[in-house]
Amino acid sequence: MSGQPRSDRPRFDLGSIAYGGDYNPEQWPEEVWPQDVALMREAGVNLVSLGIFSWARLEPQPGVFDFGWLDRIIALLHEGGISIDLATPTAAPPAWFQKAHPQVRPVAVDGTVLGYGARQTYCPSSPEYAEAAARITAELARRYAGHPAVVLWHIHNEYGCHISRCYCEQSVAAFRVWLEERYKTVEGLNAAWGTAFWGQLYGSFDEVDAPRTAPAACNPAQQVDFRRFSSDALLECYRRERDIVRAADPVVPITTNFMAGLTDNLDLWRWAEEVDVVATDHYLTAERSDNHIGLSLAADLTRSLAGGGPWLLMEHSTSAVNWQGRNIAKRPGEMARNSMAHLARGADGIMFFQWRQSRSGTEKFHSAMVPHAGTDTRHWRDVVALGTRLGKLDEVCGSRVQAPQVALVWDWESRWGLDCGNKPSTDLGFRERIDAYYERLWHLGVTVDFVHPGADLSGYRLVLAPSLYHTRAAWAENLRAWVRGGGTLVSSYFTGVVDENEAVHLGGYPGALRDILGVRAEEFLPLRSGQKTRLASESAAVPGGSASRWAEDLHLDGAAAVLRHADGPAAGCPAVTRHGFGEGTAWYVATAPEAGTLTAILRAACADAGVALPVGRPEGLEAVRRVAEGGAEFDFLINHNDRDVTVPLAGSDLVVPAGRVRVVVRTS
Ligand code: GAL
Repeated sequence: MSGQPRSDRPRFDLGSIAYGGDYNPEQWPEEVWPQDVALMREAGVNLVSLGIFSWARLEPQPGVFDFGWLDRIIALLHEGGISIDLATPTAAPPAWFQKAHPQVRPVAVDGTVLGYGARQTYCPSSPEYAEAAARITAELARRYAGHPAVVLWHIHNEYGCHISRCYCEQSVAAFRVWLEERYKTVEGLNAAWGTAFWGQLYGSFDEVDAPRTAPAACNPAQQVDFRRFSSDALLECYRRERDIVRAADPVVPITTNFMAGLTDNLDLWRWAEEVDVVATDHYLTAERSDNHIGLSLAADLTRSLAGGGPWLLMEHSTSAVNWQGRNIAKRPGEMARNSMAHLARGADGIMFFQWRQSRSGTEKFHSAMVPHAGTDTRHWRDVVALGTRLGKLDEVCGSRVQAPQVALVWDWESRWGLDCGNKPSTDLGFRERIDAYYERLWHLGVTVDFVHPGADLSGYRLVLAPSLYHTRAAWAENLRAWVRGGGTLVSSYFTGVVDENEAVHLGGYPGALRDILGVRAEEFLPLRSGQKTRLASESAAVPGGSASRWAEDLHLDGAAAVLRHADGPAAGCPAVTRHGFGEGTAWYVATAPEAGTLTAILRAACADAGVALPVGRPEGLEAVRRVAEGGAEFDFLINHNDRDVTVPLAGSDLVVPAGRVRVVVRTS
């Protein structure tokens, strides 16, 4: 699986950084539209996403279409020189559709039938929804294909955002078909799911249900398969609309907006192969003071989905959102910092939700480019300043982030497996471990890619696989061959434990990787809440420290102990090991070391891998380089501190003021 758009698809290339946002003109009287266009020009907006929730306005009655207003706004935008990312409106099925087809309402895991009056009220497997969505998509595509202002097609909106899994009868029927395609026979399904356990044997596919709320947890293999199926069901919805648009318009690229790193409902490796340009939405966790690290992670993940190539930030917020607990507003400089950080990590477009802040409706307290308070505001001046700044960075378009030497293995299926309950500890979590490792690497100044476990690893020196719980034999072999050939692997606890069907790799943990790591665990020894263990050093490379969450009754089987538990349930057992395997080295981190210890482990692993860490970089300064095909380099220096920092550059030192961003351009 390459997990990236194919190169034979139409390319998105505005020739400058895309700047703009979701534009919902139907929320405003038409007199406002010319003002909108004038303000967009003032702000340097060159792209808007149009029509995302407009189904009810475009098709006010079944089969009756009203494109007049859309024609008018498209003409206005075109005259104003603003390009359009035209959306199929299928994330907001109209009320008439809901009344006519009550069976289309999605059903939650506990059987609750969801109502309408919000958005995304549809079952992804509903034939009625498929038919109606195809009809409006075809009308829209036929009408606007070839329009010179339409430079991108935006299918639907955030698949899997509100509706990720539907448990209605139509979904269950589709799930059975999906299972039959996967397993061919019911015996195959019984074997894969291990249904001998708790007497869950099925006599036919018709007997299988969705893993809904039940007296106890449903079979974990059934749960994971339902998540696979649900991601696929939504992918079918995307493909249906994409193919209709493609038939009408073979030239203009097509995308949909992911939520990479924010939600985990879709297997985006599979989705990324289906879009012409990867686009994503990102919102900060407002209350976290280190939320810029989560932003970097999401941006790196998105770039990785794009195969290292440019991608679009389709939505973020100018300031506060309205859907978190405390919707903290962004302070001066923060919007620019966020935007430039996405740009630094490969984005060729910086877009917002939304252009004009709504007066009514659920999102009226969500920030926008034009705020309620109007244009005589710091907020608007910042929007204009950002547009002006991006307008001067045309040469950045199409450049790529300097190829990272380090990769983190990312797998949605492992996450689904870890999430389905009944594990040795509630402290286990795929995202929890990824975040722990990513955060340390961010502080070390290491830019990382994310890779699918089956991906070609040959371009990397260091690969980290924290809590890759599902490890298929083929994936273990991929890692094995790469380490044998000279790679350095860091694997944490709860990697390599089960296969794709949630069946344990037997013979001691971590079954799939034991030979690579040179260890064997007899038993998991999870720690109590808040419990810490002391770690004693057995190697000059990593000083002693402490750890929490996890320990194992671990034995060396070729590896050397780097750290040992000095107390706790695993007292005397290795906690961190290092194993020479073929030409390479494999580390096993069998606990959750505190930050300082994890940093020391990662420094030592980088040394093994020959990954040079940046020196002299001030703490809190994010530094990422993009390189253009012609050799020009763009160093993005983002100061997350509230004090100025000095960056040593060849020739002279550069001061990056508190909270500000500098872009240093070097042409060869
Ligand atoms: C996104 C969505 C937008 C808007 C935004 C608010 O998830 O695509 O339509 O709701 O969130 O933050």
